Amino acid sequence: MSFDRSIKIAPSILSADFANFGKEIEAIEAQGCDWVHVDVMDGHFVPNLTFGPPLCAAIRKHITTVMDVHLMISPVDPYIEAFAEAGADVITAHLEAGPHVHRTLQAIRGTGAKAGLAINPGTGIEDVEYLLDMVDLICVMTVNPGFGGQKFIHSQVDKVKKLRAMIGDRPVHIEIDGGITPETAPLMSAAGADVLVAGSAVFKGGSVDNPAPYGENIRAIRAAAEGARKAA
Ligand code: DX5
Ligand code: ZN
Repeated sequence: MSFDRSIKIAPSILSADFANFGKEIEAIEAQGCDWVHVDVMDGHFVPNLTFGPPLCAAIRKHITTVMDVHLMISPVDPYIEAFAEAGADVITAHLEAGPHVHRTLQAIRGTGAKAGLAINPGTGIEDVEYLLDMVDLICVMTVNPGFGGQKFIHSQVDKVKKLRAMIGDRPVHIEIDGGITPETAPLMSAAGADVLVAGSAVFKGGSVDNPAPYGENIRAIRAAAEGARKAA
């Protein structure tokens, strides 16, 4: 996985057909997505339950791009090795998930995976300052984590601008997650985000039997984001 700041669209399979993950992943990759975003929820850190390492291992063989695993779980550390063994390229843990995030990020990098750090809408970027050299990605949550299909929180645009300045020349991706559509994506690409997670906005209108809308949706988000990046 090489580093660059080009716009990357990462559909969240939280909005896919759960009975057809393999085919859904093949469809979104054929329709032009860049990464595949996997939302892991534990019913404790967030009020919803989704997938564990065995499901990640099972879908891994259908992914030819990047498997981006977003852990909304607490505690995190006991599960890092299992998600790495399941084939995650990027493992993202929440800053709010425990008192020792520095150790968590060391553990993620220790597996050979890229280390991501997610921050909730209410968390300030001052808390990431001393972690910047330990991360490959910072995920700015643009909704409160737990569910797909929520409304984008506009105050996070300013946060991404400030974070982009704080990152400087470091090879750190800024990912945004929640409520991303062709309307909200340009605000964030102009502010400095490069990895755009989108669940409902990618999967709407399509299915494994009719995947063309996935491609239209991905291209609409990408065009809006790239247009705003050029104008910024
Ligand atoms: C929210 C998840 C997101 C979510 C995005 O807790 O981390 O990845 O599925 O879904 P949309 O794009 O529908 O807001
Ligand atoms: Zn996510």
